[in-house]
Amino acid sequence: MCGIVGYIGDKDAYPILIEGLIALEYRGYDSAGIALVNESALTVFKDKGKVDHLRTQMETQTKLGTLGISHTRWATHGAPSYKNAHPHTNGNDSLAVVHNGIIENFEILREKLKKEGITFKSETDSEVIAHLVGKYLTNGNLGAAVRRALQDIEGTFGIGVISRDNPDVLIGARRGSPLVVGIGEKEFFLASDASAIVRHTKKVIYLNDNNLIELARGGYRTTTLDNRKISHKIHNLEFDADSLAKGGYDHFMLKEIMEQTNTIKNAMRGRVLCDEGTARLDGLNLVLQELRQINRIIFVACGTSWHAALVGEYMLEELAGISVEVEYASEFRYRNPIIDPHTLVFVISQSGETADTLAAMREAQRKGATVLGICNVVGSSIARDTHGGVYLHAGPEIGVASTKAFTSQLTVISLLTLLLGRMRRLSHDDGVTIAGALEAVPRQVAKIFKQNDEIKTIAHIYAPHNNFLYLGRSYNFPVALEGALKLKEISYIHAEGYPAAEMKHGPIALIDKDMPSVVIALRDSVYDKVISNIQEVRARGGKIIAIATEKDKEIQKHAHHVIYVPKTIPMLSPLLSVIPLQLLAYHIAAIRGCEIDQPRNLAKSVTVE
Ligand code: F6R
Repeated sequence: MCGIVGYIGDKDAYPILIEGLIALEYRGYDSAGIALVNESALTVFKDKGKVDHLRTQMETQTKLGTLGISHTRWATHGAPSYKNAHPHTNGNDSLAVVHNGIIENFEILREKLKKEGITFKSETDSEVIAHLVGKYLTNGNLGAAVRRALQDIEGTFGIGVISRDNPDVLIGARRGSPLVVGIGEKEFFLASDASAIVRHTKKVIYLNDNNLIELARGGYRTTTLDNRKISHKIHNLEFDADSLAKGGYDHFMLKEIMEQTNTIKNAMRGRVLCDEGTARLDGLNLVLQELRQINRIIFVACGTSWHAALVGEYMLEELAGISVEVEYASEFRYRNPIIDPHTLVFVISQSGETADTLAAMREAQRKGATVLGICNVVGSSIARDTHGGVYLHAGPEIGVASTKAFTSQLTVISLLTLLLGRMRRLSHDDGVTIAGALEAVPRQVAKIFKQNDEIKTIAHIYAPHNNFLYLGRSYNFPVALEGALKLKEISYIHAEGYPAAEMKHGPIALIDKDMPSVVIALRDSVYDKVISNIQEVRARGGKIIAIATEKDKEIQKHAHHVIYVPKTIPMLSPLLSVIPLQLLAYHIAAIRGCEIDQPRNLAKSVTVE
């Protein structure tokens, strides 16, 4: 949700900023802008739409300066337009601000500032920050003015601030929105996420909430917002710029789908103990004793991560005998969840920055819960603020539609099931079977990829349809939800996921020849029941695309099209059944000419509540 990049050093800031914005476009692409300070002049360039529009406008510019901030926007307050694009400036355009987050009291502040004679140029909440900093910049100390301005603000922010009158300083501050600082040779970078700066440096510090950093040409100083000096550990980034490229694929989404043979392996590397039939998860070592004593887990997540949690509910209840609840993060904090000493809370988030999930995590912590994280982005807020957790090690996920993170989350939750199951009722033999089946999954995923051309052919047949139903039962009900989400978010086709049997309690009314159903019908304990559900759809003229277990010839009598997945144990079947659904959604969106990696209205990291 909005991306920020800042630079101060001895190089031209513009190429660094524009390149950084392109890396952050997954966070929003409604408008983009840059502010640069050059020889005591502040110049702002912005444009509606993607970063490329801005780049075109900048082609003729020269002498752009060695200090700058930039922004790519996902609109919250105010339409996506030129005037609402960041950076925003104060009354005399002497300073500029970029902001990610939401200023909750902006209307009160705006009215107050208007009464003081200030004229607003945009409809955004962010513009108040520029005016407040301008108002408090009385003695030339930009850091102090930002610190003072932020005292007036309620809400969340990650900001970058520069001023024409302070050409040697770049200020960053955060509360609730991420900010990372890159440390180079005689230069510093500020960004919403390390992918924007990894080309230039691997040394970073992660700002915590209520931290402010003053980046000068010769060094930096970090303080709390109430001006207490603090120090930060310098981290080394574990990924490189190559992992941010499409690697020959047309879209990041396709690249990330195809990476899953490796990312699933990475999620289990060094963690599966085949002989002992269990798993080791070092990030949970601090709470091992607690893990033995709990009898209830609450998973809290959003979107695709919530679907992974739902699969986890089936796994942990069946194999570890632990009662599991799966909560939408956005709802969790508005209820009064009961958390006793035998309850463990797991927050699941690819980005580790989803605002709803962060807020739920804090609510659970306030209630005294031990909160653990399952995250992909190393150093993200959730990864840093939980009591422990497990990384996915999936590498950067850039396509807005989550794919490889989902299968990595399922892998990690399978390992958690193995670990907790073996502490409880799971036998050694059953543990060994699960561990062996898990190790076979990457090879099985590779086998599914061989049907990519068939899946594309099916996509061509069904791409003109505007409504789809996705059905699955048991472990594959959450996969039906995930398949429907993938299709709707990238192709804008209306798709609903349902438990297959629940379909006859309402959605069946929608079925006709124009509403195809994608049905996960694997050879498991619910196979016969799913076949009956398929018949119910067919009796109403509905077309069936079945995801079936390889060698199942019987299914061909019931479905119009079949995509096969290799046989595995039921708990791991979602790791395989979701792959054809990701590919089907991808190809349908491509055939419809959609913007696959950056679908309309969406952003990868939802950092507003
Ligand atoms: C769907 C998708 C979203 C995210 C959701 C949570 O493809 O990407 O539904 O899953 O916004 O994001 P994280 O996992 O980063 O908390």
